[in-house]
Amino acid sequence: MDILQIQNVTMSFGKMNALHEVDCAVAPHELVAVIGPNGAGKTTFFNVITGKYKPTQGQVFFKGERIDGLTRSAIINKGIGRSFQVVNLFPDLTVAANVRIGVLAHQKQTLRLFKNVNKMPEVDQEVRRILNLVHLTPEADLVAATLSHGDQKCLEMGMALTNHPELLLLDEPTAGMGPEETRQAIELIKDIWNKTGVTIVFTEHDLDMVFSISTRVLVLQSGRLIADGSVEEIRRDPKVKEAYLGEEA
Ligand SMILES: Nc1ncnc2c1ncn2[C@@H]1O[C@H](COP(=O)(O)OP(=O)(O)OP(=O)(O)O)[C@@H](O)[C@H]1O
Ligand SMILES: [Mg+2]
Repeated sequence: MDILQIQNVTMSFGKMNALHEVDCAVAPHELVAVIGPNGAGKTTFFNVITGKYKPTQGQVFFKGERIDGLTRSAIINKGIGRSFQVVNLFPDLTVAANVRIGVLAHQKQTLRLFKNVNKMPEVDQEVRRILNLVHLTPEADLVAATLSHGDQKCLEMGMALTNHPELLLLDEPTAGMGPEETRQAIELIKDIWNKTGVTIVFTEHDLDMVFSISTRVLVLQSGRLIADGSVEEIRRDPKVKEAYLGEEA
């Protein structure tokens, strides 16, 4: 069974369709890229899956269960994790404390227990597992705001993993990174994918990076899904070439 199904989804803002009759599906353990020029609807695509917006039309299914219309927290609890195009952390806390908050939220520890939290071995172990997964063990005690932009985005990915998602949505995980940081972040995504078996859907502007790791590529343009296929199919698709050349022109 597909882990994610998007059926005939339209998302309108006033007269503008940010998504227009989009149909697609993601199978378990895929690593799918969503690409398209600025304003194509990529972030909106994530926002309708994660419940930020209820689609104007159409349906979203996670593991066969309809999720459009559910609250964001209900959707997270079903097993969908996400990170944002803009960094979203507790900047004054340490790296480990950021992850700890995510872990505690998942384990539904209440603030009442917060004083004893430092003595919870299973929480510590989980924090260490996640820091290790996102290669931030050496930075554990640094204040998040002092991390490089690239490391902050990795921390955000770690935060998204604290609820053990089956589906991880990464909106421009390399936004604002230079070429070397981008390459490392893409390697990290592939590593997380290999180690955890989580299904990943991500957006990325650097097409070489997209083509180097994706198992499949979805292409949006002006809210429409104009292509859906393997890296090879997408590379030679004339509609995709035109969408990108059109942007440059
Ligand atoms: N909340 C909103 N209200 C009004 N318009 C919106 C809203 N969210 C998105 N849009 C519009 O929908 C279109 C798609 O935006 P979206 O952010 O999904 O594109 P994107 O593909 O993520 O672009 P980028 O590559 O720049 O991140 C844009 O025209 C945008 O202005
Ligand atoms: Mg976007």
